[in-house]
Amino acid sequence: MPNTTDINRRQNHRQNRRQFLKGTGTAAMAGAVGAGVSLSGIPTPAVAKEMPYLVDGRYDFDTVYSRIGTDCTKWDRQIQLFGPIKVGMGIADLDFRAAPCIGEAMRERLEHENWGYLNSTLGYTELKEGIVAWNQERHGVSVDPDTIEIATGVHPGLIAAIRTFSPPASRVLLMTPTYNGFYSDLTRTQTLPNESKMIFENGRYHVDWDDLEARMTPDTHTMLLCNPQNPTGNVWSEEDLLRIGELALRHDVVVLADEIHADFVRKGHYTPFASLPDRDIVNNSLTFKAITKTFSLPASKNAYWFSTNPVYLERVKVNHRADINTLGVVANTAAYQHGQDWVDQLLVYIDGNHSFVERYLKENLPEVGYTRAQGTFLSWLHFGEIMDEVGVVERSAASRNSDRPMTETQVFEAWLAGTCGVQLNEGMDYGPGGERCMRMNIGTSRKLIELALDNIREAVRSV
Ligand SMILES: Cc1ncc(COP(=O)(O)O)c(C=O)c1O
Repeated sequence: MPNTTDINRRQNHRQNRRQFLKGTGTAAMAGAVGAGVSLSGIPTPAVAKEMPYLVDGRYDFDTVYSRIGTDCTKWDRQIQLFGPIKVGMGIADLDFRAAPCIGEAMRERLEHENWGYLNSTLGYTELKEGIVAWNQERHGVSVDPDTIEIATGVHPGLIAAIRTFSPPASRVLLMTPTYNGFYSDLTRTQTLPNESKMIFENGRYHVDWDDLEARMTPDTHTMLLCNPQNPTGNVWSEEDLLRIGELALRHDVVVLADEIHADFVRKGHYTPFASLPDRDIVNNSLTFKAITKTFSLPASKNAYWFSTNPVYLERVKVNHRADINTLGVVANTAAYQHGQDWVDQLLVYIDGNHSFVERYLKENLPEVGYTRAQGTFLSWLHFGEIMDEVGVVERSAASRNSDRPMTETQVFEAWLAGTCGVQLNEGMDYGPGGERCMRMNIGTSRKLIELALDNIREAVRSV
């Protein structure tokens, strides 16, 4: 229990922060209406003048914010791998300039130049308050702060959980195509994938229920459930989740629900696994989350996991260690506290990006199979015969004995990058079902999406 001194200290700290923010754009945003922001949420012209990051009273997601030269994976690494990339549309982070509240909070903390150990009791208090409020307000799920474990990422939490329940050489259930990073978690826990390929029908992926249940074998103790699902963009319904949960409970499989993309779903369309109306099913799960995707903060190394099952919590904690960095806590706490408005505007923009891609492909590249994602900021593109025409089968076979063997979709990735300067993520990396697909990250300015699609169209036409 915090004592009065703790509470005073925290309140002082908040006051200091507010003082610091006074007169800046962030304070105006945080203070909303009273600080000169109109009822519609759009700042009045006087306030807008002090907010250079706003265009016409809105956050500016349209202006391209170059990341080249920051050693980032999405651009710099691809240039290193493929040469002069014009558009990096790969790894799942956002290209946008971060929400102003994040920079403000980090600059404030930089004023004090000591980076000693952060105390997890004191240092996580506001962060956890933010996590609880965010889940409640945006997703309608109540998370008990005492059940939250702070992590340096979703991966370290997942690895700890797999290690807890799935001994080396046992199997971990996946529904494919699924997030490629899960495979690296299996490598680190010396476990094996048990892949239930989803059924692809009328442009949508569905669970293959018979196959899923058949794979809940005695040597399968955990299931990695991705919701919303990367890369397909599926958002699982309550009915689907209950059915998965019932099967898992019946066959002693612990559900590890990775919900890192949860914010990228229209309000009311996402069902958190922890909110399912069946206590036993929820108690048979752990949830892994972060707002690092939402605010483009993944390198700030900040995530969390929780469970309503105290036994699971204690068991996984034994295998989990998180040494959090100060600026990561500052950045993520600021995002939880002051980032709502930025995210609300971001979601409208991303929704517009989905519409743009949908329209563009329909009008200009109908031979690329596409279904608008229900969630995430990802597009999953089916290139089908285009890949065959490029010769991916032959080229992949020819590479087999070289020092750089390539899968068919890796061949296509390299071909696209070389032919038109666009880097997409290769489909086979996401497991069975990804053989003729590529993943395109649309968390970027619309101009870049248009450039990427124009270039892809030209490359495809040249085949
Ligand atoms: C579904 C999913 N889970 C986890 C991660 C990585 O999470 P973190 O960076 O917090 O380890 C990603 C990143 O792309 C993801 O898409």
